[in-house]
Amino acid sequence: MKRKLKKVGIALFLVLIAIQFYQPALNQNPGQDYTNDFLITTNAPSNISKLIKTSCYDCHSNNTEYLWYDYVQPARMFVESHIKEGKEELNFNEFGSYSNRKQQSKLEAISKQIKSGEMPLSSYTILHHNAVLNETQKQEIITWINSINESNSLSED
Ligand code: HEC
Repeated sequence: MKRKLKKVGIALFLVLIAIQFYQPALNQNPGQDYTNDFLITTNAPSNISKLIKTSCYDCHSNNTEYLWYDYVQPARMFVESHIKEGKEELNFNEFGSYSNRKQQSKLEAISKQIKSGEMPLSSYTILHHNAVLNETQKQEIITWINSINESNSLSED
């Protein structure tokens, strides 16, 4: 019995080593075009820009700032799947290319997700403490989102 457990242990260890070699492409695009970037097109104030970049851009943009443990499997697979799903739903780098209607609905979704605390994902903030938004910061972002939502440029369809 003991011997069998040892074998299982060794097998698991080898699997763990083997999966380290699976490293999908990184979500990094240096030199990309930022003309449609949300924070740039809306002329976001620097405090708001910093908060959104820190808390949201790793999963909702074309450039993720990876930490060393993001490269360790199986974490890497979770990270990449979150980025893929997150970008499909909302890519801040491409926000300006969305239709007005889509921009409008995404702005509402952003406020909702921040207010409810669903975003940034808690599985992410466990290791990225600096991405946690406190109540004041949440309110700051929501107030700013409401102000751009009310501005003419976006409210006309
Ligand atoms: C760890 C990655 C990650 C981070 C960080 C993150 N998101 Fe997300 N986000 C996702 C994933 C994955 C989805 C899609 C699945 C879901 O809704 O849970 C998503 C979905 C969304 C949606 C839903 C889109 C829709 O139209 O319903 C919004 C809005 C959103 N995120 C906003 C934000 C905002 C704002 C932040 C920062 C405060 C943020 N997210 C941070 C991964 C992330």
